[in-house]
Amino acid sequence: MTDLLLTGIGRLVTNDGPPLVGAAVAIENGRITYVGAEADAPSQGPGGRIDCEDRAVIPGFVDAHTHLVFAGDRADEFAQRLAGADYTGGGILSTVAATRTASEEDLFRHAARRVRRMIAAGTTTVEIKTGYGLDLETEQRLLRVAQRLAEELPVTIRTTFLGAHTVPLEFQHDPDRYADLIVEEMLPAVASDADYCDVFVEEGAFSVDQARQILEAAAVHGLPARVHAEQLSHSGGARLAAELGAASADHLDLATEDDADALAEAAVCAVLTPGASYSLRKPQAPGPMLLDHGVTVALATDCNPGTSYFESTGLVISLACVQMGLTVEQAVFAATRGGAMSLGLEDHGLIKPGGVGDLVILDAPSETHLAYRPATNLVWKTIKGGVVVAG
Ligand code: NIG
Ligand code: FE
Repeated sequence: MTDLLLTGIGRLVTNDGPPLVGAAVAIENGRITYVGAEADAPSQGPGGRIDCEDRAVIPGFVDAHTHLVFAGDRADEFAQRLAGADYTGGGILSTVAATRTASEEDLFRHAARRVRRMIAAGTTTVEIKTGYGLDLETEQRLLRVAQRLAEELPVTIRTTFLGAHTVPLEFQHDPDRYADLIVEEMLPAVASDADYCDVFVEEGAFSVDQARQILEAAAVHGLPARVHAEQLSHSGGARLAAELGAASADHLDLATEDDADALAEAAVCAVLTPGASYSLRKPQAPGPMLLDHGVTVALATDCNPGTSYFESTGLVISLACVQMGLTVEQAVFAATRGGAMSLGLEDHGLIKPGGVGDLVILDAPSETHLAYRPATNLVWKTIKGGVVVAG
């Protein structure tokens, strides 16, 4: 007997072979136990049966790059950019100031609202970076908030320590000292509470050498690397990610074919963030080129108050198709299985016996509608571990 049975699926995107028509899916104890013909499906159990009435079903979205724990917003900065100002990354410090003075409860309350909206928009796994504390106490507070989100909300969370997001004001006279502080004091204290370590490699943030120092130290503490690379300038972050065997190189707006070869060779996932390019009014990252070179591509919201206040992966998929040039199939794979691969979540992002029971029933007959109707939340129901958590 099964906990939840989905029938009447018009089209099933499994990421484990071509889409299926007329298939049923059964979930038991949070895991998928059956994918196949409706006639042979197990009988329904205590969780009941959902008749999808010919709707499409896809894996839950795996959002592999967010900065969603922060205080305040930067709508004024956004408006200034619309009026012609350039983005330099300097605004990060205004969010740092707001975040340092916010209470842990307020940080949690606002972050939880964001995550609930993401769940309603089909997200079942989220990576959350710190990086708006930039001192040990606040960075630890952000990690505790992420941990509490994982405990209280129906979502899988992976955390990334991004103490190297930018150099805080109090160290701007000596940025190397801040890099040393990260290595000597922050990493040892946070390592057991984070899954990854990230560095923003960029003019005005951290150099390749500083990033190497930090990420090599993180590896000693058991934290694999993720790297903010080639977002605003071509600074060498992608090559560093390849050199270090990072889990991911992210943004990559200005990545070259040589970068793509290096990432493919080192099996580093490219996590692309079309919402940031869109909000900054910059060209999209070269997703098709990265795929052509054999790089595994993921798509993420980059949810943050500065460059990409995006919570909807559906809209990210639409931008990836319309502006970046991915096919719908490539974009949906990248937003589900691609994200899971970048996070080492082998059993996420696909609909297959043994995989987690995380899936989305779209209020549409096919996944193409995600790209085609971007301003509508097309998520009819979000299912997490076999339980309906939204819709
Ligand atoms: O991913 N690139 C650096 N970090 C963020 C922006 C953070 C901010 O502006 O607050 C990003 O785009
Ligand atoms: Fe980012």
